[in-house]
Amino acid sequence: MCGIFGYVGGGLKFSSLINGLSRLEYRGYDSCGIASLSGNKLFLKKRAGKIQQLKDDLKNCQKAKSSLALLHTRWATHGEPNKSNAHPHADCHREIVVAHNGIIENFLELKQSLLRKGHKFTSQTDSEVIAHLIEEFYKDSLFKATQKAVKELRGSFALGVISTKEPDKIVAVRFQSPLIIGSGAKGNFLASDIPALLAFAKEAAHLKDQQMAVIDSQKATVFSSKIRPATFSLGQPAALSKITIKTQEAEKNGYEHFMLKEINEQPAVLRKIISSYIKKDTICFPDLGISKEYLRKTRKVYVAACGTAYHAGYVAKYFIEKHCRIPVEIDTSSEFRYRSLTSGKGDLLIAVSQSGETADTLAATREAKKRGAKVLTICNVLGSSLSKEGDATIATLAGPEIGVASTKAYTAQIFCLYLFGLYLGKQKTSLRPGDFRRLLKELAKVPACQKRILANSSRVKKIAKKFSKFGSFLFLGRGVNFPSALEGALKLKEISYIPAEGYPAGEMKHGPIALIDEYRAVVCIATQDELYEKMFSNVQEIKARKGKVLAILNPKDKEVSTLSDAVIYVPNISQEASPLLVAVALQLFAYFVAKNLNCEIDQPRNLAKSVTVE
Ligand code: M6R
Repeated sequence: MCGIFGYVGGGLKFSSLINGLSRLEYRGYDSCGIASLSGNKLFLKKRAGKIQQLKDDLKNCQKAKSSLALLHTRWATHGEPNKSNAHPHADCHREIVVAHNGIIENFLELKQSLLRKGHKFTSQTDSEVIAHLIEEFYKDSLFKATQKAVKELRGSFALGVISTKEPDKIVAVRFQSPLIIGSGAKGNFLASDIPALLAFAKEAAHLKDQQMAVIDSQKATVFSSKIRPATFSLGQPAALSKITIKTQEAEKNGYEHFMLKEINEQPAVLRKIISSYIKKDTICFPDLGISKEYLRKTRKVYVAACGTAYHAGYVAKYFIEKHCRIPVEIDTSSEFRYRSLTSGKGDLLIAVSQSGETADTLAATREAKKRGAKVLTICNVLGSSLSKEGDATIATLAGPEIGVASTKAYTAQIFCLYLFGLYLGKQKTSLRPGDFRRLLKELAKVPACQKRILANSSRVKKIAKKFSKFGSFLFLGRGVNFPSALEGALKLKEISYIPAEGYPAGEMKHGPIALIDEYRAVVCIATQDELYEKMFSNVQEIKARKGKVLAILNPKDKEVSTLSDAVIYVPNISQEASPLLVAVALQLFAYFVAKNLNCEIDQPRNLAKSVTVE
């Protein structure tokens, strides 16, 4: 949800600065802008649309250099995506300039009061109030004025603030939205996420919640703070550590889209998880901050997550219940955070998130902790807010995921959740050693099986072409593949905009069957498992009503294939491991449908990669 990129140093070309910003485009891409200070002269350029358009507008000053700049790419919350609502926002005298990620919940109240004091607003955004508030408080220090201003704000905010009156520094604040300081040969940086820093910085430090920082060309000073009640410590140098992500991990590397690259990376990601967490047939999670004793006694597991991460948690619910003999309740984080849990003592919440910055999942985590539960986070971005909130974190090791549609993070989440399930089952002695070894062996087969699906992607491409004409889709699955149906539908709708619904196949007769006719496409997941025959009956019911069936099957299938209009085969594997293969088939299917329809695959409309507001 919005990306901030700031620079202060010896000088960088505008084109480089914009390239840095474009690494954050996955966070929002409806409008963007750049503010640059040269002495006390402000250059401010904003526009609606993608960063490429800003780059085109600045063609004539691409070679010009800036020694202090603040850039922003926006995902609109308040006010439509147009030029005046684009960030950065300036105060009345264009002396204070702010880039904001988050939401200011009390902006109307603040705006009314600032209007009464004579401030002139030029946008409909919540963010603009921040620039005017700082203006109101400014005496002789941008840092102090920003401190005072943020005390007035309710909501979530990551801020970069610059001023023509102090053109040598960027003031930064983090309150429930991510911000990172970077340091490199050309100077110091501020960014919402690491990919923006890769080309410029070797070291970085994640600001902690409620920290402020002052960044100049020589150093970054961090102030631990409490915004409410306001207390600020003396500044300390930012605790920088080496950036371990390689630049090429955040590039397309010859693929047409990040999504396709990330789909293809899945076997390698799972291999990395295997080599990191499985040692000689045992599962080791380094420094798991929850004791074996606690896990042994845990009576109940909750899972909270959003979107694709929720579906990964849903797959794991079946696995953990089966092998750990313990109830698992799963909620979307936005529901979990407002549930009235009676107690959480002795329980475990597993919070799953690729970004680790999803506002609802963070709130769910805090809620569970308040109720006395321990929290395990399954997270792809180490250093993210979520990875710091939990009692323990298992890193999903998927590397940067840039495509807005989550793919490799999903299978990595399922895989890590399965390994945790095995670990928990071992502590609870609910898993026989033979079953433990059998399951591990089965999981070890997954990367090679995924590779076989990927090698057949041209077949999926052909099928996708045939099915692209359908105006709506139903995805059906049962048991552990019911969440696969949910995820298949989500992938398709978010990148192709075709209405798609995931349903447990057993529920079809209770309503969705009314939708079925020759114009309806139904994706039926019917890999060989104990529910295969039930799926076969569902397929017959669909065909009896002339629905078009795309089946996801194993090669040895004899029955469903005879009724289906098209089949994508996935290698035969255990029921538990099958979602890890079905996911790849459905991701490819969604990708090729969206490509046929000329959709913006990596940046679907209205979406942003990480949802840092409620
Ligand atoms: O970063 P998170 O895993 O917490 O994000 C959760 C969802 O916003 C995310 O999975 C979203 O649904 C994706 N666009 C799905 O492809």
